Amino acid sequence: MKFFIDTANLDQIREAQELGILDGVTTNPSLMAKEGVKGKEAIFQHYKAICDIVDGDVSAEVFATDYEGMVREGEELLKIDPKITVKLPCTKDGIKAVKYFSDRGEKTNCTLVFSVGQALLAAKAGAKYVSPFIGRLDDISSDGVGLVREIAGVYRYYGYKTMVLAASVRHTRHIIQCLEAGADVATCPLKAILGLLNHPLTDKGLATFVSDANKMME
Ligand code: E4P
Repeated sequence: MKFFIDTANLDQIREAQELGILDGVTTNPSLMAKEGVKGKEAIFQHYKAICDIVDGDVSAEVFATDYEGMVREGEELLKIDPKITVKLPCTKDGIKAVKYFSDRGEKTNCTLVFSVGQALLAAKAGAKYVSPFIGRLDDISSDGVGLVREIAGVYRYYGYKTMVLAASVRHTRHIIQCLEAGADVATCPLKAILGLLNHPLTDKGLATFVSDANKMME
């Protein structure tokens, strides 16, 4: 399973990249707004800065909600860097735009996916990634990880090439659940990724090794 980081924060992206485990980045308008980026030029520069840090796909989401606007914006985003993946919402216009870009060999991420039916349309339109939002489904007492498992099963059975990118990952346990559910990618907050390292026996064992090593060097 690939690891993407779900943020537009350059320090966090750098930290994950330096860890050596990062495969890509996802952003959305809310994450970009959180970084205080304002105006088209600054937004594009910010995407470029992200692309310069990471080795892998960088999802940049269109702001438009109509087909023509999405195509226009997506074309502009693609000029920023070859790592850019156009992120499009799973709506009627969004699916048409996914098809437009995939027909031209461009990478797309079909986002805001909450059902197998939406994931089916994204795959048929040729999306490189489909993003089921697991945390937001859990928030309404639905089963986010269950949806990832269902989509992954259907894609494998029918041979769809679209990768299941588990999004809206909220904590470390979600990452393990995505792995078990057959996600191709999980996009996670840095805190959830670093949480994978936490184990009291690692801390305890290391403390003993350090103390024994020091004794030998006295
Ligand atoms: C994914 O691409 C989205 O940017 C993101 O995972 C949404 O997460 P949230 O539900 O925590 O806002």
